[in-house]
Amino acid sequence: MKRKLLKISVISGIALLFVVAGIYAKTVPEVIELNDPAYEEHKKGVVHFEHKKHQNEYAKQYPEFYKNGCGECHHDKDNKPLTELKEGDDVQKCIECHKIAAEAPKGKKAPKKLSKKEKIKEYHAEALHENCKGCHKKFNKKYKPKKAPTTCTTCHPKKAGEKDEDEEEDEEKEDKG
Ligand code: HEC
Ligand code: HEC
Ligand code: HEC
Ligand code: HEC
Repeated sequence: MKRKLLKISVISGIALLFVVAGIYAKTVPEVIELNDPAYEEHKKGVVHFEHKKHQNEYAKQYPEFYKNGCGECHHDKDNKPLTELKEGDDVQKCIECHKIAAEAPKGKKAPKKLSKKEKIKEYHAEALHENCKGCHKKFNKKYKPKKAPTTCTTCHPKKAGEKDEDEEEDEEKEDKG
């Protein structure tokens, strides 16, 4: 009995994988929940990323920030922007190359001092932060008082019971550059 159940769940699991892979290759969802399963736990609220708005509206409205098109965010194994990428193409997940599912350890927890570049290369959250906040900061400089989000809770919705220390931490980070 147990064995039969296991068999059924394995088969339906595989079927589901095919369905998911199929959808993945064809349509890009309008909004992507950036909730990578490589993380054991998401400490922060899950980011809802308006992929379609970013790739269409914002790209048209602010072409100076989108010189590489899709390649502003998608690149290959040598960090060469995928400027020719188009809807329907397969893309690799960021985690495939920026493999460690975390922010780089800070302060006393850090085993060794890594340069900013090394952190981005190795740590998924550092790569995402650099990509998202990097463009947003440039945008905010140019389009003041318009504001693309750079503080924690404007991207990570606050979880129930989460403390209010966020924004300070962010200011501190931004002061360092
Ligand atoms: C502003 C950054 C940005 C731009 C511009 C962008 N993307 Fe993405 N895209 C992302 C991120 C982030 C993900 C999620 C990757 C992950 O989960 O590792 C993603 C995921 C995808 C996926 C997978 C969808 C899924 O189901 O998860 C496809 C396909 C894709 N992008 C295609 C494109 C194409 C085609 C363009 C250009 C027309 C484009 N992207 C422009 C950031 C961007
Ligand atoms: C096929 C492998 C691969 C994938 C997939 C990948 N990256 Fe990268 N990425 C790299 C490499 C290699 C570098 C360069 C690292 C270095 O500086 O040595 C890089 C550098 C970066 C940088 C530094 C920016 C720069 O040019 O200075 C950012 C930010 C970044 N990646 C974000 C992302 C995001 C966001 C995704 C998913 C949408 C992603 N990467 C997917 C391989 C990849
Ligand atoms: C190439 C530039 C660029 C990159 C990269 C980028 N953004 Fe944005 N983002 C913008 C612009 C431009 C706006 C709109 C600002 C406005 O018009 O007020 C925006 C607005 C937003 C907003 C607020 C409005 C909305 O659309 O929801 C969120 C949230 C956001 N971005 C999240 C992200 C996340 C998460 C990432 C990384 C995965 C990211 N962005 C990467 C350019 C970028
Ligand atoms: C522009 C949007 C943006 C801002 C601002 C931002 N983050 Fe993130 N953060 C992301 C994205 C996107 C990821 C990747 C999540 C994923 O794909 O699973 C991430 C991942 C993380 C992670 C690892 C996943 C988790 O939840 O444990 C931590 C921790 C984190 N961020 C903390 C912060 C802190 C602290 C701040 C403020 C100093 C901040 N972030 C500001 C977009 C943002």
